[in-house]
Amino acid sequence: MAGAEIKGGGMRVVITGGAGFIGKRLARQILDRGHLTDAAGVEQPIASVTLFDIVEATGFDDDPRVTTVSGDIADRAQVASVLGTDADSIFHLAAIVSAHAEEDYDLGMRINLDGTRNVIEAARGMATPPKVVFASSVAVYGGTGLPDTVTDETPITPQTSYGVAKACGEQLLNDASRKGFLDARCLRLPTISVRTGKPNRAASTWASSMIREPLCGVDMDVPVSPESAMALMSPRRVVDAFITAHEVAAERLGDWRTLLLSGFTATAGEMQAAVLRNRGNRKLGAINFRPDPKTQAIVDGWPSGTSGARAEALGIHTDASIDEIVRHFIEDDLDDQIQGRF
Ligand SMILES: NC(=O)c1ccc[n+]([C@@H]2O[C@H](COP(=O)([O-])OP(=O)(O)OC[C@H]3O[C@@H](n4cnc5c(N)ncnc54)[C@H](O)[C@@H]3O)[C@@H](O)[C@H]2O)c1
Repeated sequence: MAGAEIKGGGMRVVITGGAGFIGKRLARQILDRGHLTDAAGVEQPIASVTLFDIVEATGFDDDPRVTTVSGDIADRAQVASVLGTDADSIFHLAAIVSAHAEEDYDLGMRINLDGTRNVIEAARGMATPPKVVFASSVAVYGGTGLPDTVTDETPITPQTSYGVAKACGEQLLNDASRKGFLDARCLRLPTISVRTGKPNRAASTWASSMIREPLCGVDMDVPVSPESAMALMSPRRVVDAFITAHEVAAERLGDWRTLLLSGFTATAGEMQAAVLRNRGNRKLGAINFRPDPKTQAIVDGWPSGTSGARAEALGIHTDASIDEIVRHFIEDDLDDQIQGRF
């Protein structure tokens, strides 16, 4: 454990998966913002942000409000100890990603399902039901007969163990919310792009790599055809979505605490064109389309659009264009990516 805890009033925030790609950005945004709304609907300063992850979150040494805790979300006692009895807000992001969960069923269920149960059990012991904002996924949709664009009304028919665990997590959190153990807000995320760092084990990882690598001057083999379409959301927008979902009054959400987030749909060919349009003076790496049948089949099975009218009505917005997604990456992350600072 590192960092010092501030005692006294204000919001005590915990981010599980707080060392991850979205978790770290979310933490920074919450710290910069400096306040969140408590269970009573009153704006409170941020007293502490605990970043709980299997690996230690780095880069927060200069903020005394931050505590980093290394531990396993699948360990119920550890989760109870980190959340304590007085967490105001829990952003539950700890997970292993799609392909990894598919390869290792036991690990996937332990982290992606048991981990969520552990958060719920810890919340049950608290005097005031905490707000819990959960990172679900459009992987809850799947199978034949899926419309090109999924909506709030599309039935959930996950076809992967990852999607099943996320769907179960949503249902368990909705139930716990109904029972008054906690105040849940579950967000179904489309693919977040542009991801920084190295490619991960998600079957969608190319949607970030084919923007990121060429802008860093690295050649990229794209494992799908130029016509392959994907619903995307930028890191900026998804962090805004987490905070907006946290801030919305429970009454506006009603009984059903799950929100589908609208993505911006772009084909791989359109992503390539946006990279070319926004390259400036940079010497780009080559983008070569070399479809891999396995990846192509997985991507073809996904909806190419997500349209979340409920989330939009609550003020959660999608990116305006694929160019905006590329520009946000250039503005926010390209220098760090080139320098290997992620
Ligand atoms: N990035 C996307 O495109 C996307 C899309 C849909 C849903 N999501 C969901 O959003 C959340 C965050 O995604 P991300 O892109 O930041 O992923 P990420 O892999 O960068 O972050 C997940 C974090 O969870 C941590 N973790 C893994 N096992 C753990 C364990 N046993 N105990 C504690 N922590 C553990 C990892 O170390 C990692 O830091 C995840 O729940 C993911 O399923 C992401």
